[in-house]
Amino acid sequence: MSNYGLRKRVMVTGGAGFLGSHLCERLLGDGHDVLCVDNFFTGTRDNILPLLENPHFEVIRHDVTFPLYVEVDEIYNLACPASPVHYQADPVQTTKTCVHGTINMLGLAKRVKAKILQASTSEVYGDPAEHPQTESYWGNVNPIGPRSCYDEGKRCAETLFFDYRRQHGLRIKVARIFNTYGPRMHPNDGRVVSNFIVQALSARPITIYGDGLQTRSFCYVSDLVDGLIRLMDTPDDFAGPVNLGNPVEFTIGELATRVVALSASGSAIEYKSLPVDDPRQRKPDIALAEAKLSWRPSVGLEAGLADTIAYFKALLARDPAASGRR
Ligand SMILES: NC(=O)c1ccc[n+]([C@@H]2O[C@H](COP(=O)([O-])OP(=O)(O)OC[C@H]3O[C@@H](n4cnc5c(N)ncnc54)[C@H](O)[C@@H]3O)[C@@H](O)[C@H]2O)c1
Repeated sequence: MSNYGLRKRVMVTGGAGFLGSHLCERLLGDGHDVLCVDNFFTGTRDNILPLLENPHFEVIRHDVTFPLYVEVDEIYNLACPASPVHYQADPVQTTKTCVHGTINMLGLAKRVKAKILQASTSEVYGDPAEHPQTESYWGNVNPIGPRSCYDEGKRCAETLFFDYRRQHGLRIKVARIFNTYGPRMHPNDGRVVSNFIVQALSARPITIYGDGLQTRSFCYVSDLVDGLIRLMDTPDDFAGPVNLGNPVEFTIGELATRVVALSASGSAIEYKSLPVDDPRQRKPDIALAEAKLSWRPSVGLEAGLADTIAYFKALLARDPAASGRR
């Protein structure tokens, strides 16, 4: 039973993280009760500080690899470290979060008859042999490499979602999220946008791994959150998986140049060798999201980067140690 049908009770696992905190904020703004569940592995209270005074916002410190019993109407399952630095720090825990955590959240959704959405990833496509990637592509993933705890963990989570749907009739939604950036990204977790910005703002060289010709597409966080909410609101017969990302493609070299220009930085660009299993190309085909969610990203790279640079400027002014410089 929801609160007299007036507000939805929405749970966001990983709600103190980068994407989760923006999602919580948007859901509160839409007039819902929001329960943020996080173990603060990569998330921080700072990300949700402004929300703590809202009487419709609640936080539980909890690790999703353990069962949780709460009454909710909808679950957004975002809990999982998302950057290689963090998910490779304790790969067994990453797989546990993806697999045990997902089983626990699906079990909860089954018990309280909640609708549940999985934050999956473009990493399920691995180093893709098809370009751009449509949802029907099965992927090219190394099952035993250093990225496998995350890639295979997320693939298994998708399997679990669809098995709970087939076996128990659960109302599920699976979003395959492509590179997303914006304020509240972790300042030194090795993700390319935050890396470049922090390096540029602290006048260090910008590090490009490989020749810089590998491409990525970058989605601004508000666009992504909007896509997640639209997906949750689709009719029950639509489960996805659906790609959410910005199809406008840039080379990593182009991104570096723009960050240097927008930060008014004098940083030079330096090249290092490419990490294992780093994909050459990554670009979503978003035709399905356009058709089913009437969604397409609206924030361009310049505007999104400007907001993100402003955030990091303020962060580094407040806390110079956030630059990661020893
Ligand atoms: N940001 C992206 O570009 C991107 C791309 C693809 C997929 N995703 C997915 O979106 C989700 C959120 O990513 P993000 O970028 O906000 O990362 P993030 O690291 O900022 O957020 C993840 C959150 O989950 C929490 N968490 C981790 N393990 C947990 C556990 N066992 N129990 C409870 N909480 C736990 C962390 O403390 C953190 O707050 C992740 O599932 C990620 O795989 C993100």
